[in-house]
Amino acid sequence: MPLYTAVKGMNDILPPVSLRWSRMEEDLRLLAARLNYQEIRTPVVESLELFQRGLGETSDVVQKEMYVFEDKNGNKLALKPEGTAGVVRAFIEHSIGIEKPGPHKLFYIGPNFRYEKPQKGRYRQFHQFGLEIFGDPTPEMDAELIYAASLILDHFKVKGEIRVNSIGCPACRPAYRETLVNYFRPKAEELCGDCRRRIDINPLRLIDCKADSPRTRWNDIPVITDHLCPQCASDFDRLKKALEIFHVPFVVDPFIVRGLDYYVKTAFEITADTGGTQNAIAGGGRYDNLVAETGGDATPATGFAIGLERLLSVVPQDFYGAQPLAMGFALYDGGIPALLHLTKHLSHHPVRYMAEYTPRKFKNALQKANKLGARHIFIFGEDEVKNAQVLYKDLATGDQQLFGQHETMTIVSMLMEKEIEK
Ligand code: HAM
Repeated sequence: MPLYTAVKGMNDILPPVSLRWSRMEEDLRLLAARLNYQEIRTPVVESLELFQRGLGETSDVVQKEMYVFEDKNGNKLALKPEGTAGVVRAFIEHSIGIEKPGPHKLFYIGPNFRYEKPQKGRYRQFHQFGLEIFGDPTPEMDAELIYAASLILDHFKVKGEIRVNSIGCPACRPAYRETLVNYFRPKAEELCGDCRRRIDINPLRLIDCKADSPRTRWNDIPVITDHLCPQCASDFDRLKKALEIFHVPFVVDPFIVRGLDYYVKTAFEITADTGGTQNAIAGGGRYDNLVAETGGDATPATGFAIGLERLLSVVPQDFYGAQPLAMGFALYDGGIPALLHLTKHLSHHPVRYMAEYTPRKFKNALQKANKLGARHIFIFGEDEVKNAQVLYKDLATGDQQLFGQHETMTIVSMLMEKEIEK
């Protein structure tokens, strides 16, 4: 047993999986740039109050899952459990919405922390890629955002189901809330302890209960889509029409309520077969009141975040093939200067290469390369050095070839062509 191990629910990301992570992050950044989102990086720590206010006092995240601590000055702080509240704080603090007209499109990638019960796909430190749009009130912009999410799925060849809903607004939600309370109150005895408490404090969350799903037990639970005010109902229709124009496949799921309190109108989730119980890979929606509730000028906003652990678990294994390794060897001391030159030249090209500077016999070099899973080897023996050449061997096909020592570009093109063929 090692003396120290990683904190429960927090994972090391080791090679070769770390390579999949960094390539996935690069792809997400490129996709975001193509759609004109600019990166925002906010601190991992924010004031506790920001999350209490923004995410809602009654949300599970605020009630049970935050890492909270005091600094030496007695300030109450928290590790961020999600990205939106910090982005909203920064949006207000730096007057982003005042300096230029919207829409302002921002993206982020980074760690979040929730003290949840760890299991496959649910961690205490996890990572999100998120998109947030400030300054546009239209359901068409929600549709564009959901389209962006669908482009991410397509890019990574992930089969996901996009489920959309409207959760109403302060005009129509209170009446729906009341309808739910009236429906569930007589059934209180049949509900789990958490849900019995939710009847009064947050009845909407009740229909989403993970422990004891009421929606599989009763088939006449009132749905919000039957209780939307005319404005919310018309916005929801516009959302669906715009999604159709984008050719985004979606289903309407009137039971999506989301776990955070800031949402109004559009709410959506994306599920995929992750092989575990945590199959919600992304979620988001409109949060038109959060900027004002956080102390800024009223600014409509919409966004979503995708969990990177969950995304990577559904990206096909062969999506990122490992780049084949090339190795350089000298068969005697006299081959080392030429080997050093090869190392120097190849370091300027996108070739995965490493050298070994202790001279070995040819057979021995082959064995070492095989053990390390290398595909290509470059050998400097006495004949090669005499003729200013290098012997190349492709360990996958057995082909051998001599190159001039100055033919670096020819060598690089050959390696890259072989990679494309593969
Ligand atoms: P969320 O649904 O709480 O939304 O989280 C978004 C995604 O983060 C989830 O779908 C899941 O993939 C991932 N996730 C959440 N908790 C965990 C965990 N404990 N372990 C692993 N992955 C997890 C939000 O966080 C909102 N801020 C999204 C948003 C952005 N809404 C508007 N803008």
